[in-house]
Formats: sequence, structure tokens, C-alpha cells
Amino acid sequence: MNDQASKLRSLRKQRSPLKVSDSVRVIAVTSGKGGVGKTNFAVNVSIALGKMGKHVLLVDADLGLANVDLLIGMTPEYNLFHVLNGEKSMSDIIIPGPDGIRIIPGASGLYSLANLTESEIDILIKAFSNIDGPLDFMVIDTGAGISKNVINFVKASNEVIVITTPEHTALADAYAVIKLVYDSVERIHIVINKVDNYKVAEITAQKLISTSKKFLNISLNYLGFVLEDRTVLQSNMDQVPFIDKYPNSLPSKCITNIARKLISDEPDLGPSNQTIGGWIKKLLSFMLK
Ligand SMILES: Nc1ncnc2c1ncn2[C@@H]1O[C@H](COP(=O)(O)OP(=O)(O)OP(=O)(O)O)[C@@H](O)[C@H]1O
Ligand SMILES: [Mg+2]
Repeated sequence: MNDQASKLRSLRKQRSPLKVSDSVRVIAVTSGKGGVGKTNFAVNVSIALGKMGKHVLLVDADLGLANVDLLIGMTPEYNLFHVLNGEKSMSDIIIPGPDGIRIIPGASGLYSLANLTESEIDILIKAFSNIDGPLDFMVIDTGAGISKNVINFVKASNEVIVITTPEHTALADAYAVIKLVYDSVERIHIVINKVDNYKVAEITAQKLISTSKKFLNISLNYLGFVLEDRTVLQSNMDQVPFIDKYPNSLPSKCITNIARKLISDEPDLGPSNQTIGGWIKKLLSFMLK
């Protein structure tokens, strides 16, 4: 107990070396139900933002089964473990992805985030705070479910995109996530995936929007939908993101529309940007609670 308290104290004392001007839009992608398309969405929307000239850092935060790298056909040699044990720096582990995006590969064993020592906390905060280069978006692909790990990644982020399919179970799980995070995040976007047509997507989105309004008194932002299409599975098997493999496919067009909407959302509607140093400190303070 004392140990945890002292870690939290040391966390509060640390200053992030980043300036306010270094703040970015931090967006966690989550779903509740597994397998609804989070990783495909996170990878492809990051690339779409990259194509539009935005600087994107994609973080694979699936602490169970890291798989962003699988979808882009890369096998990263190093990950956050190597940063934590001092073997590598953050710039050594960040891999370049398509269209200028950068990727922090997943570290499946980082389940132990709550058991970090004070010096590891220090390393992690410095490593994230010192990520260099211009950055507009940090997109975080979370794991399935509503475990503390997943929810903390979401709660540390100012914005969240909740992905669901039209199925009842997926919708119920999406609402369960929204209920858990709505008082911590500034903006909740929703995306409906694997639909046959836009009407089904709109009806599904409306269910989530009206339930959230009625019971939580919050307004969700409907970003759009992604059509169900076999090119997604095919590109997964080929380990090339579908937006690059099949740029003219319907899912690619849907993703491009969503990326455009995300960009046009800023800045007046107001989710505030965050420094990455501030984000990692917030995340760790939740994990250590
Ligand atoms: N729009 C789509 N059309 C067709 N298939 C899709 C679509 N989106 C995702 N899929 C398929 O659904 C499966 C799950 O996708 P993905 O791995 O992106 O989901 P996930 O939510 O990240 O899963 P997990 O919860 O395990 O992390 C994959 O087989 C993928 O090809
Ligand atoms: Mg995934």
C-alpha cells in the first residue's frame, strides 16, 4: 500500500518536458465486444489521416494479443519492454508505417503495468514525453473487453472512438464501455462496422445515441460506418492494410470519410489536445490506483 502511495506521489511530482504546443489529439479506439474490427479500423484510419498530411502515432495497446504489426506485415524486434529495461530508446522501437505514420508496437507482456517500479515509471514517462517530431494524432488500439487495463487506456485519453457492429451483443457491450468512461473522456465518437448499408448503420448509431442521451445525458458523435466487405479479410491475410491494398473498395472509402470527419471535428467542438507526457502520467496514475 505504502509502496503504491509513494509511486503515485512521485508520479505527481514529475514534470513533463513537453510544451503546450506539443499537444496532440489522443484518441483511444475501443469496443467492449472483441472481434468487431478495432485493429483494422485503428490501422486504416491512421493511414487515412497520414494520407491527408496528418502526423500520426499509432499505439498498439492490446496487452493481450498485440496485432497491429500483423495487419501491416511487420515483425518488430523491440517493444516497450526493451525501453523499460534500458536496452532501447523510444525512437529505437517506433517503426515507420505506411504514409508516414509511426507505430509503437505492442508488448503483450505489459500486463504488469500496475507493478512497475518507481524507476520504470520514470523511464516510461520520459520515453513518452520525449517522442520527437511533429505529431497531430495519437491513435490507441486497445484490446477486447472492459478490463481495468483497457478502460484505463480509454480514461486517460481525451477522445474515444467506440466501434460496434449492429448485433445486439456488440451494441450492449459498446454501451457498457460508454457507461464506464463517459465521465472521464471529453468526446465519445461512435463508428458502426460490418454493415450492409448506411441505413442499418444509422439505425444502430441512433440506438446508441438515444440510450446514451436518455440514461447518461450525453451526446455521442456519430463519425460514420464501414461496410462489410471481403476485401478486409483478404487484406488481413495478405498483411497489407485494406486502404493501401484496395484503395477504391467501399471500406476504404468509408474510412476516408471518417478520417475527414475526424479532422473537421477539430477544434471548435472542443475536445482539448493533450501532451503525450500528460497522457502517460494520467494512464499510470489510473493503473497504480
Ligand atoms: N468492415 C469489415 N468487413 C469485413 N470484415 C471485417 C471488417 N472489419 C473487420 N473485419 C474482420 O473482422 C475480424 C476482426 O477484426 P479486428 O482484428 O480488426 O477486430 P478487433 O476488434 O481488433 O479484434 P480483437 O478484439 O480481437 O482485438 C477480422 O477477421 C477482420 O478481417
Ligand atoms: Mg484488435
